[in-house]
Amino acid sequence: MIKSVLFVCLGNICRSPTAEAVFRDRACRAGLADIFIDSAGTGGWHMGKAPDGRSIAAGAERGYDLRDLRARQIQQEDFRRFDLVLAMDRQNLKDIRRLAGPKTTARIELLLDYLPDTRQQDVPDPYYGDADGFTEVIDLVEQAVDALIVVLAQQRG
Ligand code: 4NP
Repeated sequence: MIKSVLFVCLGNICRSPTAEAVFRDRACRAGLADIFIDSAGTGGWHMGKAPDGRSIAAGAERGYDLRDLRARQIQQEDFRRFDLVLAMDRQNLKDIRRLAGPKTTARIELLLDYLPDTRQQDVPDPYYGDADGFTEVIDLVEQAVDALIVVLAQQRG
């Protein structure tokens, strides 16, 4: 049974904190409040910082509060602490798998693999784009998180 989930992107200030906040909110509503949830970045440039103001704004529009989240870099120890590690894009997945090494017991997957539409695998990095990109992140994350919650709830029977 999955008891802990870590969302991972590049900077941990846009996509993965969004996924963390959305999942926390929806997991609670689905009766999965006991799942331990966190997010991290493969890069360390933004360590200790709050999410990007544009992610905070896009989240607030849908009722998610990202303001208290703080960026951190993924560590070896995370593969022991978390049952499920979800990458926001294929580059993140590659980087995470390399860091985890071949003996890891954590499940390491793409978040968007939970979507029924298999064409889109990556949550596009919105950092250098405009506000629309941040809305797209929320749209994709909400859909994938809902699908993930169905799977996790089923596993509990
Ligand atoms: P994130 O977005 O990976 O969704 O947090 C990014 C944030 C910062 C940078 C790249 C992506 N950066 O290059 O600083």
